[in-house]
Amino acid sequence: MPTERQLQILEERRKRREEYNSTSTSKIPLAIEGSRFPSFQFQKPLTEQDANANYFYINGTPIWLSQAASHDDHIIQDHTVRTSSSLWDCGVILAKYLERHPSSVCHKRVIELGAGKALPSIVAAALGARVVITDAKEGINAAEGVAALNNLHIHGRGHGWVESVQSLDWIDRESDMMNLQNGPFHVVLCSDVVWVEYLVPYLVQTMAELPLAVDAKILFAHQTRSTRIDNLLFEKLSEHGFVHEKIPNSELHPDFKKEAVCLMRIHRA
Ligand SMILES: C[S@@+](CC[C@H](N)C(=O)[O-])C[C@H]1O[C@@H](n2cnc3c(N)ncnc32)[C@H](O)[C@@H]1O
Repeated sequence: MPTERQLQILEERRKRREEYNSTSTSKIPLAIEGSRFPSFQFQKPLTEQDANANYFYINGTPIWLSQAASHDDHIIQDHTVRTSSSLWDCGVILAKYLERHPSSVCHKRVIELGAGKALPSIVAAALGARVVITDAKEGINAAEGVAALNNLHIHGRGHGWVESVQSLDWIDRESDMMNLQNGPFHVVLCSDVVWVEYLVPYLVQTMAELPLAVDAKILFAHQTRSTRIDNLLFEKLSEHGFVHEKIPNSELHPDFKKEAVCLMRIHRA
C-alpha cells in the first residue's frame, strides 16, 4: 500500500504534467527519433555465449543488463525482458566515450542520476570506478542485479565496483539525499535525463545539492527534443552556478555519435 506521502507526490506529479500540457505552446514531441545503433544483445545467455550475437563490448568484455529468461519464464517474461534490453542512444554514446577515456572515471567515486538500465554506470565500474546507481524509486528495479551479472558487486572487477543501487528522486529528495553515504563524488553521470520540462528544475537542483568533490565533473549525454527545454536546462544550470561545455565530437567514439545527441561536461564555475 502506498503511504499518504507517496500518494501526495504522485498527485503533485499528475497536476504538474496536466499544468504543463495545458500551458505549453510548443509541446515536446513524444515520438522521439529512434535508436541509431544496432540493437545490442544485452541479455546474458543462460549457457555459453553465442559467437554470432551482437553483444555490447567494453574493452573486449561483454556488458550485460539482464539475464536471459529460462525456457519456463519465457512466455511470461518475453515482453518485459525484450523491453528491458532496449536502450536510448545517449547511454550507448556516453558508455563508449568512457571506454575511450577511462581515466575520467577510473579510481573515482561516481554517481549516476536517472540511471534506468544504468549502462554508463556499469561501464564506469568495469573501468575501475566505485559507483552509486540512482533513479526514482519506481525506476531502480531496472538496475538492480546488473552489478552481479557483470561481476561488479562487492569486490568487483579490478578496482571498480557498484557500491549501491538506490532511490534518488529529484522531486522528493530529502530522505534519499540523506541516504547517500558514499560521497563526495568526483563524477556524476547523466544520460538522457532531460525530456520533459517540469523535471528540469528538480534535476538541476538535485545536481546542485549532491555531495561533490571540488573538482567534480558532470558528464551529461543529452538528446535535444526542443530548444525550449534546452534553454531551460542552460538557464537552470547557470542559476545554480554551473558552467557547461560541449565535448568535441572528435573526443567521442567514432562509431558512436549522432547529430541530435551531445555530450557536455558540466562543472561549478
Ligand atoms: C529517458 S529515461 C533515461 C534512462 C537512462 N538514463 C538511459 O539513458 O537509458 C529517464 C530516466 O529518468 C528517471 N526519472 C524520471 N523521473 C525521475 C525523478 N523524479 N527522479 C529521478 N529519476 C527520475 C526515469 O526513471 C528514467 O530512468
